[in-house]
Amino acid sequence: MRSCVNLKTWILQLLTLFSVVSLSHGRPTAQFRVKAVNLGGWLVTEGWIKPSLFDGIPNKDFLDGTALQFKSVTTGKYLCAESGGGTIIVANRTSASGWETFRLWRLDENTFRFRVFNKQFVGLDGVKVVAVSNISTNSSTFNVVKESANSNRVRIRASNGHFLQAKTEDVVSADASTVNSWGDDDPSVFVMTIAGMMEGDFQLTNGFGPTKAPQVMKEHWNTFIVEDDFRFISSNLLTAVRIPVGWWIASDPNPPPPYVGGSLQALDNAFLWSEKFGLKIILDLHAVPGSQNGFEHSGSRDGSQEWGKSDETIQQTVGVIEFLTARYAKSPSLYAVELINEPLSPGVTLETLNKYYKAGYEAVRKHSSTAYVVLSNRLGPADPTELFPLAKGFELSVIDVHYYNLFQDVFDAMTVQQNIDFIYNNRSSQLATVTTSKGPLTFVGEWVAEWKVKGAAEEDYQRFGRAQLDVYGRLATFGWAYWGFKNVNNHWSLEWMIKNGYIKL
Ligand SMILES: *[C@@H]1O[C@H](CO)[C@@H](O)[C@H](O)[C@H]1NC(C)=O
Ligand SMILES: *[C@@H]1O[C@H](CO)[C@@H](O)[C@H](O)[C@H]1NC(C)=O
Ligand SMILES: *[C@@H]1O[C@H](CO)[C@@H](O)[C@H](O)[C@H]1NC(C)=O
Ligand SMILES: *[C@@H]1O[C@H](CO)[C@@H](O)[C@H](O)[C@H]1NC(C)=O
Repeated sequence: MRSCVNLKTWILQLLTLFSVVSLSHGRPTAQFRVKAVNLGGWLVTEGWIKPSLFDGIPNKDFLDGTALQFKSVTTGKYLCAESGGGTIIVANRTSASGWETFRLWRLDENTFRFRVFNKQFVGLDGVKVVAVSNISTNSSTFNVVKESANSNRVRIRASNGHFLQAKTEDVVSADASTVNSWGDDDPSVFVMTIAGMMEGDFQLTNGFGPTKAPQVMKEHWNTFIVEDDFRFISSNLLTAVRIPVGWWIASDPNPPPPYVGGSLQALDNAFLWSEKFGLKIILDLHAVPGSQNGFEHSGSRDGSQEWGKSDETIQQTVGVIEFLTARYAKSPSLYAVELINEPLSPGVTLETLNKYYKAGYEAVRKHSSTAYVVLSNRLGPADPTELFPLAKGFELSVIDVHYYNLFQDVFDAMTVQQNIDFIYNNRSSQLATVTTSKGPLTFVGEWVAEWKVKGAAEEDYQRFGRAQLDVYGRLATFGWAYWGFKNVNNHWSLEWMIKNGYIKL
């Protein structure tokens, strides 16, 4: 046991020495491939990483982006933004999907706005309930009152002090003033369904509010990832960390609300500790203004995707990249700057992305000639080689692809062996498509040894992990990064996987 540990330490020292030597002659060559882990949940929060962070939020079902559906107890039909928005609200739909879903904006624990499918806010036209304005006004403010015995039964109070009622299937109005029982004959009562929730930084900080959020985040940053974690990472033969950050870090310590200051200090610590343990950092701009994909981890408030629709959002994002590169350019640990995480097609067009990547690349190069610049391939419908023409003009560029055997129906019925075969056959060929001798380096910036197989044995997980380490280790010319380091779901936690012998590097 002991000699094994000594051997590890010795190899580690040799590796560190090697990287120091090669650094003094410029950057490590492409022969150096990162074995990295994503330090998610540290600067950007997301559901599984640490759900308990959300525990202290008052009325925590009602966070920003929560998707609600309301069935009138009298008509037995769902509220619906007719045409998806732009006109009246009706109560005549027998089933609920997009048009019948209302996304919350939380103003405080009791006060909300509702955003409809086409992005308008629910509001009033006299007492008529409509969704016509995409700018929120005072008339688009509502309270949700739950029945104490059954929190799925609710009334919605409008800004005029009256409750909404479904008078008929065609008329929803804010004019119920005296309400009595919670019976099925009361047109102001609705059965509420929560159709989805978001748990990201926006939801967390806005959920706690301006007094509590800074304390919660400070405590989180001080305790969730600490120096010992960097020691653990480096002593387990990982060479780098990919650190997701949000755009508001550039205005630390006073970011626009609801975000709170402190993430920059946390990132400074990451650089200190990385330098101490000889780790590289891939700085990953994971959340950009307006959101590039609508996911909670992009900082989206309600699931909408607005980034790139105005030049302003692009310019602001370039500013964040420049800020970060300038700040850390002199650190020997700054290895790469990733300009954006998971831009989603078709909302983010190739044209927009190319324009941003060009400006972002130049912003990095203003301050560093040695940092790799990582370009994320688009999620959604997109040609995996679409960035090649642009990358040709860049020095030290990298294409990032994310491979999960999850999230798509094709993985639903796959067995253990089929998942492993998929890695050896399909992932190999996908990686081969993006890896060319003269093109950008390739990076599997996110992968995980988790799948849709139910009840798999430890040994199955080990084989699945080994298959991915083998394929990505051989074919990804920049390297790979596991998602993530700590997570309540054990298989998503590389720390747990290593400590429990599921993954060996
Ligand atoms: C609101 O709608 C108007 C008219 O359709 C449009 O010009 C404007 O860009 C929209 N604003 C937002 C914030 O979506
Ligand atoms: C909107 O509400 C705010 C806060 O209650 C109030 O100060 C403001 O006067 C209202 N504006 C209008 C146009 O009614
Ligand atoms: C619901 O009511 C609106 C307004 O009267 C009407 O235009 C629409 O066709 C109705 N839809 C259904 C499914 O009944
Ligand atoms: C994997 O690749 C094989 C061989 O090219 C192909 O037949 C199969 O459809 C692919 N599997 C999936 C799930 O895409």
